[in-house]
Amino acid sequence: MTETARGFRVFPVLAALALVVAAPAGADGAADGGIAVGNVERGETLFHLCTQCHGAEGQGNPDIEAPAIAGLPGWYVLSTIQKFKSGGRGMHPEDYAGMRMRPMSLTLRNDDDVTHVAAYVAGLPASQPVPLLEGGDATRGAALYAPCIACHMPDGSGSAALNAPPLQNASDWYLLGQLKKFKGGIRGSNPLDPFGALMVGMSQMLADEQAMKDVIAHIMTLAD
Ligand code: HEC
Ligand code: HEC
Repeated sequence: MTETARGFRVFPVLAALALVVAAPAGADGAADGGIAVGNVERGETLFHLCTQCHGAEGQGNPDIEAPAIAGLPGWYVLSTIQKFKSGGRGMHPEDYAGMRMRPMSLTLRNDDDVTHVAAYVAGLPASQPVPLLEGGDATRGAALYAPCIACHMPDGSGSAALNAPPLQNASDWYLLGQLKKFKGGIRGSNPLDPFGALMVGMSQMLADEQAMKDVIAHIMTLAD
């Protein structure tokens, strides 16, 4: 992992922290010049509910299909929670895991609370996921990953400018589930999810489950 890649990934977290520092002391749901800022302390309080499924450190729990979220960039956590809230994700009748997350997003009552919890999640240290899938061929996967680079970057660090989240440090079982959902139109087919729609198209490039496992085996070599 290069320093540049690491810096790229860490930047949104630093930005969130800088905003917190800039916020008036004791501000709750603070707005700074009309822009909502993340209050990590308030975010930590709100995060208590999330720990039930995502774990105390945001490390995830495969038994209930709750992914690791620690260290995801604040912009992605924010946009994703807003998407669950609006019903752009987690509404499809076959999206069982998404339907468990959606009501949780609705407990965050306003945009400020979403911003606070996103700032807290972004500040949690990401941990190396334990691989659970078997049978993926990382060499074949490296070739299959070539078209993904344009948005998710060669090192899987993602691109805020392209709204593409990092894939490094994601759990392999979660990635497989999401690729299957994109390919089946269970995620990304809602008109309120235009970024997900991009992935519905991209997932068609992976012919079958074996191709998905192969590309994921490559992604697992990219972990921080
Ligand atoms: C009842 C269990 C449960 C609780 C509580 C919960 N979640 Fe989730 N969350 C899930 C599941 C399951 C998924 C996976 C959805 C899917 O497969 O699409 C998820 C997905 C997510 C994602 C998307 C991750 C990604 O990479 O796209 C984020 C972000 C998230 N949750 C944040 C939170 C936050 C913040 C809270 C607390 C306010 C919370 N969750 C509470 C179960 C839960
Ligand atoms: C044109 C840009 C683009 C390309 C190319 C692309 N993606 Fe994505 N990908 C996205 C965007 C944007 C999202 C976020 C969707 C959302 O906001 O819900 C995403 C999300 C994902 C997710 C879900 C991550 C999560 O945390 O839930 C996975 C897995 C994924 N992409 C894998 C891939 C793979 C594998 C490839 C190559 C076969 C690929 N992507 C190619 C733009 C792209």
